[in-house]
Amino acid sequence: MSQDHTVPTLLPRLPALSDFLAQPRKLLIGGSWVASQSGKTFTSLDPATGEPLARIYEGDAVDIDAAVQAARAALSPDAPFARMPPTERARLLHRLADRVDQHADELAQLESLDNGKVYKTARHGDVPAVSGVFRYMAGWATKLEGRSLPLSALPPGLFHAYTLREPIGVVGAIIPWNFPLLMAAWKLAPALCCGCSVVLKPAEQTPLSALRLGELLCEAGVPPGVVNIVPGFGETAGAALAAHPQVDKVAFTGSTEVGRLIVKAAAGNLKKLTLELGGKSPNVIFADADIEAAIAGAANAIFYNQGQVCTAGSRLYVEASVFDRVLSGITARAMKIRLGPGMAEGSQMGPLVSDVQLARVRRYVDSGHAQGARLVIGGGQHGSTGYFMQPTILSDVTPQMQVVQEEIFGPVLTVHRFSSLEEVTALANDTVYGLAAGVWTRDVSKAHRAAQQLKAGTVWINCYGAFDDALPFGGYKQSGWGREGGAEVLDAYLQTKTVVVKLG
Ligand code: NAI
Ligand code: MG
Repeated sequence: MSQDHTVPTLLPRLPALSDFLAQPRKLLIGGSWVASQSGKTFTSLDPATGEPLARIYEGDAVDIDAAVQAARAALSPDAPFARMPPTERARLLHRLADRVDQHADELAQLESLDNGKVYKTARHGDVPAVSGVFRYMAGWATKLEGRSLPLSALPPGLFHAYTLREPIGVVGAIIPWNFPLLMAAWKLAPALCCGCSVVLKPAEQTPLSALRLGELLCEAGVPPGVVNIVPGFGETAGAALAAHPQVDKVAFTGSTEVGRLIVKAAAGNLKKLTLELGGKSPNVIFADADIEAAIAGAANAIFYNQGQVCTAGSRLYVEASVFDRVLSGITARAMKIRLGPGMAEGSQMGPLVSDVQLARVRRYVDSGHAQGARLVIGGGQHGSTGYFMQPTILSDVTPQMQVVQEEIFGPVLTVHRFSSLEEVTALANDTVYGLAAGVWTRDVSKAHRAAQQLKAGTVWINCYGAFDDALPFGGYKQSGWGREGGAEVLDAYLQTKTVVVKLG
């Protein structure tokens, strides 16, 4: 890691952003921006410095209740959204996408400041992905088809049956801090497409971009109450939303631990749930791969977004004959990564989101070290300002170490040696998670055999982290329930009604 102790030059903050950050941000409920009923506020920090960035009104159970009532009212049969034809919902989503693109620089700065991520990544990755998912889901709004079904036992001439696809109702969306704006969009886009209303609770570490998106939603003409945004903490606002009897479905992205709490909270009214939880994804490099491409891909798989990615390729398995070459290649790449504030020109890796996350990542590295892993590079905090973590590689790891079994959610890679496909798929599958996996090989048969054997919701072959809105995304095992993306996400926001007609 290049240790640069000069004060970095930061991108100048856009004037619109300074105005936005100057005032305590309010909650969006029923189309109005309101203070929390308690009047309490909390502070969001800039993780590059640890300095306060903005104040936000802190929503809790009473505000969640008001938001849920507003969301419920927005679905009543005579409300504008319930009467809106699908083409209009599609146009709404397109207008929203246009707004996002028009404000891309500002949204990217906000994301970089609040989360710590590199500005260019936010500007060219996160923000276009946000407008992209709104546009993609706009296309589905006019294609939510039921079916006319041939009957099996009822006399066909006497009965006619068909299905209708109806919105599931009020959606509670609880999202994390690693891709704050994109996770908001991943929930809002299918909900609006399908005619659902939403109460969104952003992560307490990164509430700002969702609140700015709320302003853009209002400008784009989303009717009052259709989208409500209540920032606040997990144990208060989040828990109240997960337990609320008037919420029909919860879409959650976050830790597996909180996912379990949400399952319990949802039991009261048996809410439908989708859960996108943690991962510990294996990335497998065979000796016959394009090794340079695999090295670059594997480094990016773990260091992108500081490793704070649910699909991070955090366990690297390398075939024995190329092990040394791959390890030295990735180490060389890690050494060259320039750490610095997301808003600084030339930064390639920003800080972790919080001091809590930094401490958690460091604890994991220390535990790996204590259990006998070899620290190849990194291992500690970078600098003394903000929450920067050095890119870290651990080798000589054994399958049962915590650093191999548990999600670290930081720039920490474990590197393992293997000698056969059977051996590596068994090792790769040996965690409670199953979100994603990578395979690097030039042998087509081996690639597809590995894809069959890996227990993961997504398998990337000769690439890693290639996302597309048309593709389902979600987890096997304890990585979650259900799928987001593609046509499959519609199942989570619609329910099927069967209509049976007796003729004559
Ligand atoms: P978290 O799971 O606590 O936070 C995610 C969201 O859940 C936030 O909006 C939070 O306010 C909310 N939440 C927390 N407790 C809740 C409750 N009892 N009821 C309802 N909502 C609740 O994640 P945290 O603590 O910020 O990060 C800890 C670890 O979780 C990370 O180190 C990482 O391993 C994992 N994580 C995984 C993510 C993923 O994308 N799969 C995203 C964020 C964290
Ligand atoms: Mg922040």
